[in-house]
Amino acid sequence: MKPDGNIPAPAVRRLSLYLRQLELLWADDRQKVSSKELGAALRLTDSQIRKDLAYFGQFGQAGVGYDITELTTNIRRILGTDRTWNVLLVGAGNLGSALSAYRGFAKRGFRLVAVFDSDKKKVGKPLLSNPELVVQHIDMLEDEVKRREIHLAINAVPAEAAQQIAHRLVKAGVKGLFNFAPVNLDIDADVAVASVDLAVQLEQLSFQVSMNQSIADAEKTRKKRRKK
Ligand code: NAI
Repeated sequence: MKPDGNIPAPAVRRLSLYLRQLELLWADDRQKVSSKELGAALRLTDSQIRKDLAYFGQFGQAGVGYDITELTTNIRRILGTDRTWNVLLVGAGNLGSALSAYRGFAKRGFRLVAVFDSDKKKVGKPLLSNPELVVQHIDMLEDEVKRREIHLAINAVPAEAAQQIAHRLVKAGVKGLFNFAPVNLDIDADVAVASVDLAVQLEQLSFQVSMNQSIADAEKTRKKRRKK
C-alpha cells in the first residue's frame, strides 16, 4: 500500500464493491477480468477502477486485466478482512437481534462473539435470533473485551445510552465502532467510527425520486406546450 495515507473514503468504499464482484466472478470459475468488465458490472468507468486501485499499489497487466484470485487476496488484505475479527454487540433489542441472525458477517470475516444488554429479563438467555449467543450483562463488557481481544463493536442501544456505551467500549480497548444510534458520537480520533442511519438514506432516496419526478413533469409540460 502507498504510505501517504491520503486515500479518499469513496475509493475505500468502492474496494468492498470490487471485492464482492470479484467473488461472484471467482464463483463462476473466472480467472481474469478487465477493469472495463468490472466497471460495466458496477456502473463505474474503467478509469475510476484503475484510479482507485492505484491508491493501493500496482495491480493487473495492461491488455490482460486482473488475476481474480490475486486481486481478491490483495483487496482482502487492504480491507483487513484476510483475518477473522471478533465483534461484540451492545443492545439485544429489535435491531441487535436482527443483526445477530445474519450469517453473512461470518462469511466476510466478522465473528459475532458476545452480546450485551442491561435488561435483566434478557441477560443470561440465548438470543432467539441466534441461540449460540447468550446475552451478557453490560457490566461484563470490559472483561470480555480484554479476554476475547475484541477490537470491533456494534452499538445498537437507544440514542440516550449510545454515547456512554461508546465511551466504555473505547476505554475497554475497542478500536472500531459501528454505530446505529441516531447520535453524533464524541469519540477519540484514533478510533474508527462508521454510522448507518436508514432514515437519512431514505431521505436521500426520496429527494432523488422527487427530483426525477419534477424533471419528468417539466418535460411533459414542455412537450404539451410544443404540441399546441
Ligand atoms: P430496542 O429498544 O429494541 O433495543 C435496544 C436495546 O438496548 C434493549 O434491549 C435495551 O435493553 C438495550 N439497552 C438500553 N440501554 C442500554 C445500556 N445502557 N446498556 C446496554 N444495553 C442497553 O431498540 P432497537 O429498535 O433495536 O434500536 C436500537 C438502536 O438502533 C436505537 O438507537 C435506534 O434508534 C437505532 N436504529 C437505527 C437504525 C438505523 O438505520 N441506523 C434502524 C433502527 C434502529
